[in-house]
Amino acid sequence: MNMIHAKDYSDMSRKAANIISAQVILKPNSVLGLATGSTPEGLYAELIRRYQSNDLDFSLVSSVNLDEYRGLSPENDQSYRYFMQTKLFDHINIRPEATFVPDGLEPDAARACSRHEEAIRNLGGIDLQLLGLGNNGHIGFNEPAPVFEKETHCVDLTQSTIDANARFFASREDVPTQAYTMGIRTIMRAKKILVIVNGEQKADIVAKAFFGPVTPEVPASILQMHPDVTVVGDEAAFSKLPANA
Ligand code: F6R
Repeated sequence: MNMIHAKDYSDMSRKAANIISAQVILKPNSVLGLATGSTPEGLYAELIRRYQSNDLDFSLVSSVNLDEYRGLSPENDQSYRYFMQTKLFDHINIRPEATFVPDGLEPDAARACSRHEEAIRNLGGIDLQLLGLGNNGHIGFNEPAPVFEKETHCVDLTQSTIDANARFFASREDVPTQAYTMGIRTIMRAKKILVIVNGEQKADIVAKAFFGPVTPEVPASILQMHPDVTVVGDEAAFSKLPANA
């Protein structure tokens, strides 16, 4: 596991953008696995800046996202498709038909999940998967559990996640209660993995996930078994690492 130390959030974003840029420059038809959340926003802004200054070309790139809320349309501003369009895709020259986010409007969960797996397979697999890290060690929507979940599947959101999301919706009934997410096996099959973490609130889980025991109770800990993982973190997120890490 390669730990890259960044000073702060913008340094983390630039260093992560360097890794994604190198991937796209060296393999212009790369398949990028992408994440939503607050951590990658600065990285996506940096990729847009590099595209605008002609340093990056996404015309041959494909992307697959980790997850999507079940029941939300692409136009819903809380959907992950909407996030990806507004934070990245609408501002770069990636082909719209080459961007894959699980279909939140597909009511048949098994079909939505198998289609996402099929899209990844048809692309020849993921070259570089970007991940954020949940405070409880989740990756995608793979929450702490007795076993590692395997491929793309439908998850019931915990009551605390539903409660936390409620403020973004007009009424309680509109808050999604389920999501489609890549599974641990899907994530582990990516050729390379890039994890980005920032802020003091992530310090405990970063130490636990990457230097503690591998257990499904800390889903990200499985990444210790992957042969090509890079973690880019700011000083605060790396403040509880063992010496010399
Ligand atoms: C996002 C995702 C989540 C987030 C994680 C961290 O697609 O799958 O696992 O990466 O919850 O979120 P932030 O970046 O908001 O701290």
